[in-house]
Amino acid sequence: MFNVVIADDYDLVSSEAFKIMRSVLTKEKPVLGLATGSSPVGLYKKMIADHKSNNTSYKNVITFNLDEYIGIPRNHEQSYYTFMHENLFDSLNIPEENIHIPRGDCEDMEAECARYEEELSKYVIDLQVLGIGSDGHIAFNEPGVSFDSLTHVMELTEQTRRDNARFFDDDINEVPTHAITMGLASIMKASKIIVIATGANKADAVYGMVKGPKSSDCPASILQDHDDVTVILDNDAASRII
Ligand code: GLP
Repeated sequence: MFNVVIADDYDLVSSEAFKIMRSVLTKEKPVLGLATGSSPVGLYKKMIADHKSNNTSYKNVITFNLDEYIGIPRNHEQSYYTFMHENLFDSLNIPEENIHIPRGDCEDMEAECARYEEELSKYVIDLQVLGIGSDGHIAFNEPGVSFDSLTHVMELTEQTRRDNARFFDDDINEVPTHAITMGLASIMKASKIIVIATGANKADAVYGMVKGPKSSDCPASILQDHDDVTVILDNDAASRII
């Protein structure tokens, strides 16, 4: 069952997400599942502002990121490792050893998938933050992926690579073709999930997630089976479900 929250603008969407984040941060050792993309950036800014003005401590926080591009080094300006450090980690006091991001630069990616899933299995994610791709993907689980998938390597769809080309000088050829991603089954183990989506280009994917048939054609529709998902939308992203 989805709890759907619709807010008037991106700042209010981010505030709604932050309210849920703040309640989880009161736990003794919060375990956060974190996402990249533009959707959670407003939430991350609010976490940083709260850390600075209210001294909210992150020293006991443990994080797991959803995914990473394959074939670019960690220090590439568009790696998710770089994104997370620039947009969140560099401004908080999470000990570096508590931060988990899958590696996309390993020779043996199968071994890296197994290692990441094994590390994940030692924890239960208290709050998983998700965005959604315009093709209905969550993390980098593209249409057709198995609902039973654990951390795995995924070939990116043309649509996803086109959407993400804006981060690569608008050149689709620069966008990696594959990624390592937590699987749908890995994501479903989280106790609580929030999905943040804004803009008209997400309206169809949001419809598929909330109202569409449960099908791997829209990977996010698996969330219909989770009992604690809050979907936080602006009016444009919500336009097909209201
Ligand atoms: C990427 C990420 C996803 C993210 C999606 C949407 O492909 N792997 O985790 O949800 O894009 O991104 P945005 O929030 O920028 O629209």
